[in-house]
Amino acid sequence: MRHSILLIISGSIAAYKSLDLIRRLQEHDIAVRCILTKGGAQFITPLSVASLSNNPVYEELFSLKDEAEMGHIRLSREADLVVVAPASADLIAKMANGQTDDLASATLLAANKKILVAPAMNTQMWQHPATQRNLSHIREDGAIIIEPGAGLLACGETGSGRMAEVETILAAISKHLYTGALHGTKALVTSGPTYEAIDPVRFIGNHSSGKQGHAIAAALARHGANVTLISGPTALPDPKGVTVKHITSAEEMLAACEAALPCDIAVCAAAVADWKVSEPTARKLKKAKDGEAPELRLIENPDILAHIAQHPKDRPNLVIGFAAETENVLENAAAKLKRKACDWIVANDVSEGKAFNATENSVTLVTAKSQQNWPLQSKEAIAEQLVQNIITHRSAK
Ligand code: CTP
Repeated sequence: MRHSILLIISGSIAAYKSLDLIRRLQEHDIAVRCILTKGGAQFITPLSVASLSNNPVYEELFSLKDEAEMGHIRLSREADLVVVAPASADLIAKMANGQTDDLASATLLAANKKILVAPAMNTQMWQHPATQRNLSHIREDGAIIIEPGAGLLACGETGSGRMAEVETILAAISKHLYTGALHGTKALVTSGPTYEAIDPVRFIGNHSSGKQGHAIAAALARHGANVTLISGPTALPDPKGVTVKHITSAEEMLAACEAALPCDIAVCAAAVADWKVSEPTARKLKKAKDGEAPELRLIENPDILAHIAQHPKDRPNLVIGFAAETENVLENAAAKLKRKACDWIVANDVSEGKAFNATENSVTLVTAKSQQNWPLQSKEAIAEQLVQNIITHRSAK
């Protein structure tokens, strides 16, 4: 699979080095799309950027051409990594404050990928507490700073602030593109509840928060997997570095899963509603004058986990389900493993309100051959432990 980078070039004399960076990325067979800010275009021309990158250059937020062709959301969705080089003091300040007054800053705020930032500026600007404050903000927000070097600057002064050399930036890009034990694998995760419509204003739902499924998607992505998360309605932000498809009902979740196949690993953590209303009404149900309540006829929803695990054409190598049980947890989980034909089940005791919406959980990993009890720990820690088991399993094959 060919990797692709979104390169944002902002206003600094170091922009000339970005031309070399684009050329070097092409040599590594990495596709590059570029955003050139107004400041950047003072130093290098859109034509040279377009010629070297073999792609159109994106410059304007409110441009019919740029927005119709790619749009500021898709620009980061279609890249594996976002690189800001050079990153001017002004663009770093915008990132720190979530400002979106041009295409570069709006794209950065909307980005769902790791962002590498290679600052370039005069020493006084670099050392100014405002810049350092902004840098620590964007670091906290997840950006990786490629530290500038020291030396003679274009302004004639000597000191730190010179953009890192192209080789250093390339090394940082390689590190983030090619690391992770799950690099090259594709994973599908379902998460959250599904809502089944009764009428346009009412639905049948459940208490799932989506915390566990979202944490698993994030952990898989952290270890290098290319993750699609199919999420029911939750209050959670989309995890970084993950492609998220938002759905409402079980039918929609099934269709989104089908669209995400084939994949190597599937983790079904969603609390899918087992039943839906057979005929949801197009108009809001009104109370009857005689006080009689409506009768809802329920029919079974498709079983998404079983569907994926028994897929005739695209069964993933590893299919993992969850079992929410209130009694006989392990027996029921083992039976579910067989019935649905999945490889592992993460068995979850949900009696007395445990697990749902809690931040900690204690689970048992049930496979055809073994059972592992994991102590009470955060859902993030469970996600990490599950991913470690996935990595071990894959390397043993
Ligand atoms: N699941 C699914 N589609 C459904 C129901 C469940 O994909 N329509 C998946 C869940 O994501 C979970 C596993 O099946 O990974 C088990 O869910 P659970 O609610 O424990 O089991 P059910 O199959 O619903 O069986 P029961 O409620 O009878 O225990």
